Amino acid sequence: MSNFKKELQRRRTFAIIAHPDAGKTTLTEKLLLFGGAIQTAGAVKSNKIKKSTVSDFMEIERQRGISVSTSVMGFEYRNLQINILDTPGHEDFAEDTYRTLTAVDSAIVVVDVAKGVEIQTEKLTKVCRMRETPIIFFVNKLDREGLDGFDLLDEIEQKLDVKVCPLSWPIGMGQRFKGVYNMYERKLVLFNPHGKQEDEEIIVFEDLSHPDLEKHIGESPARTLREEVEMLETVYPAFDKAAYLRGDICPVFFGSAVNNFGVKELLDCFVDIAPTPRARETEERVVQPVEEKFSGFVFKIFANMDPRHRDRIAFLRVCSGRFERNKNYRHIRLDREFKFPSPTMFMASKKTLLEEAYPGDVVGLYDTGNFKIGDTLTEGETLHFKGIPSFSPEQFRYVDNADPLKQKQFAKGLEQLMDEGVAQMFTRQSDGRRIIGTVGQLQFEVIQHRLNAEYNATCSYEPVSLHKACWISSDDPKALEEFLDRRKRDIARDKDGNLVFLAETAWVLQTVQENFPKIQFHFTSEV
Ligand code: G4P
Repeated sequence: MSNFKKELQRRRTFAIIAHPDAGKTTLTEKLLLFGGAIQTAGAVKSNKIKKSTVSDFMEIERQRGISVSTSVMGFEYRNLQINILDTPGHEDFAEDTYRTLTAVDSAIVVVDVAKGVEIQTEKLTKVCRMRETPIIFFVNKLDREGLDGFDLLDEIEQKLDVKVCPLSWPIGMGQRFKGVYNMYERKLVLFNPHGKQEDEEIIVFEDLSHPDLEKHIGESPARTLREEVEMLETVYPAFDKAAYLRGDICPVFFGSAVNNFGVKELLDCFVDIAPTPRARETEERVVQPVEEKFSGFVFKIFANMDPRHRDRIAFLRVCSGRFERNKNYRHIRLDREFKFPSPTMFMASKKTLLEEAYPGDVVGLYDTGNFKIGDTLTEGETLHFKGIPSFSPEQFRYVDNADPLKQKQFAKGLEQLMDEGVAQMFTRQSDGRRIIGTVGQLQFEVIQHRLNAEYNATCSYEPVSLHKACWISSDDPKALEEFLDRRKRDIARDKDGNLVFLAETAWVLQTVQENFPKIQFHFTSEV
């Protein structure tokens, strides 16, 4: 096998997603500890912005610092190169998470055993489902009392519309938590609440009916475990790797991240089954990772980490071929050649210069303002990667320049922040007013703060009563023309010039959908 193919097959690129507080940071840290990427607990900072610190701008900047350094956390495990892509915890940054999900090949979803499926779990899993991304669930905090295991599996299946396949099963929980039975490897893993991972007692147990089970966990738990495992085997499908890779079934593991319990089982199974870099669709054709020619797309941009230098880092996912330092690549949107003398790899807060990267890897490219989210680089072929969506925003405000002397700075700042994907901007056709649309309240404050700190510009907001902005299209040019004419006041363009309908209320949206059947209303737009 060529070296290129070997490197490609060693890559496993995934994201850990969760509702805030379910244990994403803790789990990430434990995985990095296994891989030797960090030596001590506490090295991975939580990139949470708590509600209470919404107005604390230093906090926002601090978080941006953490976010950039933890964007990709890589480590080697069992001779595989594992890349964890970090996702912001705060729900107002959900769109950033959605975009990161376009750059991964699989996901681990953390669920808090006491809280079950929460709102962010639902939203993020839905995005994975849309993209048929294989998912593994990790039910966390078994050292606390929580929902019954069967109820939890039901809830996951119903709320998330997935089929599950438990590969480990808890023996009690909270005070009575004794460990898990690893059904994937047929092993009993006993929990020592005061021990370290190395103290985990692992007993190979092919046959649960063996009388030794009582010796290890006691009579009543042994009886319950036998009954429950028998029930699991009748109710849930046997594990089928192909079905997992298609996104049809989702393995479930149980454990306690903070106690480092059940994490190794998860990781060992993950490296066995998780997909190697997957093929990716472009508007032109499907790109296979084994193709020799390099291609990749930008899914995230961090700008102005140091306001004294206008530095931006564009994060590029390599989709095919080998990326090399100092080689010329074609930037498709600008139709220009670029080469990168100092591409970096961010590895658990360490930044290293990189000579080459393979499909599945994420490269940090220093940028002076040439990149937007969704941009493609290739060795020459015209390709546009699909599936980097903008979501129809739900919160809106008019934005205006508040300092007439700083008009230029204001326009530039706003444009760059939009390129970075902080929020979306629509320009209403009838009066030319700019409207900012976001998925969360926090972005308005981030924009105001960053315009000021980085561009020396001031903006003011004004409320605008809108329910939704959605992209419109039609196969019938006449019908579209008529619609644009009839609804003149509600038509805007996004930053790329696409047509957008601004619906004042849910009722208005419903009525126009009924009255104009030839018009399609889209709630996501692929940028
Ligand atoms: P997040 O990134 O998903 O938001 O969650 P994070 O890992 O920060 O965990 C949220 C809280 O849950 C933390 O407590 C963490 O210690 C705790 N936690 C994580 N895994 C487990 C577990 O298996 N069992 C129990 N009982 N708790 C767990 P915190 O009090 O918010 O922060 P900290 O001061 O302990 O770090």
